[in-house]
Amino acid sequence: NVKYDYLIVGSGLFGSVFAYEANKAGKKCLVIDRRNHSGGNVHCQNLEGINVHSYGAHIFHTDSLQIWKYVNQFADFNHYINSPLALSEGKLYNLPFNMNTFYQLWGVKTPSEARSIIEAEVNSSNFKTPANLEEQALSLVGESIYKKFIQHYTKKQWGRDASCLPAFIIKRLPLRYTYNNNYFNDRYQGIPIGGYNLVVNKMLQNIELRLSHDFFKDRSFFESLAEKIVFTGKIDEFYQYQYGKLEYRSLKFEHEIHDIQDYQGNAVVNYCDLTAAFTRIIEHKHFEFGTQKSTVITKEYAINESLNSEPYYPINDTKNMKILKRYQCLADKESNVIFGGRLAEYRYYDMHQVIASALKKASDEQWK
Ligand code: FDA
Repeated sequence: NVKYDYLIVGSGLFGSVFAYEANKAGKKCLVIDRRNHSGGNVHCQNLEGINVHSYGAHIFHTDSLQIWKYVNQFADFNHYINSPLALSEGKLYNLPFNMNTFYQLWGVKTPSEARSIIEAEVNSSNFKTPANLEEQALSLVGESIYKKFIQHYTKKQWGRDASCLPAFIIKRLPLRYTYNNNYFNDRYQGIPIGGYNLVVNKMLQNIELRLSHDFFKDRSFFESLAEKIVFTGKIDEFYQYQYGKLEYRSLKFEHEIHDIQDYQGNAVVNYCDLTAAFTRIIEHKHFEFGTQKSTVITKEYAINESLNSEPYYPINDTKNMKILKRYQCLADKESNVIFGGRLAEYRYYDMHQVIASALKKASDEQWK
């Protein structure tokens, strides 16, 4: 009766990489997904001939040559470099915080001039152990940068004042004393030519895939199908929320088609003030150097989780981490279930990290 070696719940990057590797090793896999498309959160929809990132902007970056070569098997990548802008009090600034930003803020032209302003501000904040996110940010970057770029943006992101948020949310706020607007420090970066769907479709091309199938709607049936389960959904849902629900911050996306060639001249513009309710506007064609006649933009809003919203950012505070530990104890006892990916591990993963993790879990199997 057992028809498959692996039932893979979720066709996001974790599930798709695992399925690809298992299939290559001659294992029979069934991939199911509760959504009506594969790819999980890297999925794109085609609007006006533009790949629109349905679940938020996705820029591939990695420092690992192995992971870079791995993804390049499935698509060629373009030379997109992420250089976001920030709009604050009517003016545009370069991100990440670098000499261009400091010049725009204070007119300073040399790293030593910028350093002395920032050091003076940081020293005057004088927090030995920051008690909240506001104090943490002030002690890392000083008052000017905090007020212009962090204070209100954070409030929109988390729905609470920075002074009421835990300091651990911001561990580092890198300051770059060169004129370099490349957001990432990684050696390799780009967007797959043809879009992320192409990558995932190639991974899954020889594998049975059932879309719009929810594991929990017919759990015992699905469990009976395979020797092992690779579960990439929510770990608390897997255990019927018996220790409580793990909390997430969610997002709302509003896509708009505009009958002009270029809306904002850049893929990503952050909106730092409270006057705009959204946190950023993404103009998707710029990820691909698109030349279409029209353009598609997405306004991104950070919202509380509700029944219909997607879980995006895990809230890794003490309360949730305690709950997670209890679920992990149950998971450790499972001999036929592999938990992987952002929902099953309840952690923020970048794409290169989730691919590395799936490759590791696949190699741990040794395809016995
Ligand atoms: P993912 O969520 O993609 O897949 C899980 C799948 O399981 C989903 O398709 C879901 O429908 C399915 N599923 C769940 N429960 C199920 C059930 N019961 N039955 C059947 N199916 C079920 N990374 C990066 O490197 N660069 C970037 O720029 C970004 N940008 C970015 C923006 C935003 C807003 C977010 C939230 C995240 C990013 N990321 C990112 C991270 C990136 O999205 C992430 O690394 C991967 O999508 C994670 O892939 P997973 O397979 O783990 O989860």
